[in-house]
Amino acid sequence: MPKKILVTYYSQTGQLEEIMKNVSEVFRNHDEYEVTYYEIRLKEDFEFPWKPEVFYDTFPESYLQEPREILPPSEEILNTRYDLVLFGYQVWFLTPSIPVISFLKSPYAAKILGQTAVVTVSGTRNMWMLSQDKLKIHLNRLQAELVGNIALVDRHDNYTSVITILNWLQTGKKEQPRPLPPAGVSQQEIDQCGKFGVIIEKYAAHGNYEGMQKELVSHGAVEVRPFLLKVETVGNKLFTVFSRIIKRNPAKRKFWVGVYKFYLMFAIWVVSPIVLFFYTLLTPFFLKKRKKQIENYQGI
Ligand SMILES: Cc1cc2nc3c(=O)[nH]c(=O)nc-3n(C[C@H](O)[C@H](O)[C@H](O)COP(=O)(O)O)c2cc1C
Repeated sequence: MPKKILVTYYSQTGQLEEIMKNVSEVFRNHDEYEVTYYEIRLKEDFEFPWKPEVFYDTFPESYLQEPREILPPSEEILNTRYDLVLFGYQVWFLTPSIPVISFLKSPYAAKILGQTAVVTVSGTRNMWMLSQDKLKIHLNRLQAELVGNIALVDRHDNYTSVITILNWLQTGKKEQPRPLPPAGVSQQEIDQCGKFGVIIEKYAAHGNYEGMQKELVSHGAVEVRPFLLKVETVGNKLFTVFSRIIKRNPAKRKFWVGVYKFYLMFAIWVVSPIVLFFYTLLTPFFLKKRKKQIENYQGI
């Protein structure tokens, strides 16, 4: 009997879809596996490219993990027990995206993921760490067994990637005007991520994933920048405040979303460089703590 692999993802731009197809390629090429793709679809999807006013307006529900209705997976998917699920997701506002949350909160998730080995694969700008923690809460609740994690990011500096991703999401064009680099995860990395599938397959063949995460990390599957963890931690605190204010004031939603947008730009362009300066200055005093953070987020 061939082992059954489910590859599940949501993708607006096609980036995560390409990543998932490449990671799972090795399984398609082996007779010992049967691969099924399941694309999470919202009943009413978000428009891409994004209109700026819709983009920022999506923040509160995204951050508060409010689900929308999704189209049900096929009966065949719901009635199959998979040996391994490759679970692709992206981050929206420091939280797994609304479509992904909608799936995780749907009745289908427990059926598909319960008691099943799961490898998470994310394709984000660069702030995925606390979202992975949020995702893990859902995976635990669903009794899924997290066995590996691949976190692909834009490896350019934090400021370049902000400019390019906002351009990309609002124009639909990954290529950017010179001298900016293309937005998102580099094409070279996307093209090469079949190597992660080859590693996963070795372990999937025996159904024993001991040591797999270490091997994935040694091949570049997870880069951790402790400074970004700091930004995410502070960001989550402020996002909690903003999301509550916006939800409590529906009549003044437009105004408060505007304040949030202003705050976001101020934090990125003014506060974060100052914090980065002091953070770098203090590095020698916090070497142990930061090493621990790297180990934690490179693990599962
Ligand atoms: C509304 C929205 C918010 C986003 N917020 C974040 C974020 O907080 N952190 C991050 O690293 N990437 C963020 N991204 C980028 C996505 O994680 C993802 O890389 C990008 O949208 C590619 O889309 P795809 O995976 O749907 O193809 C955001 C994207 C969108 C559309």
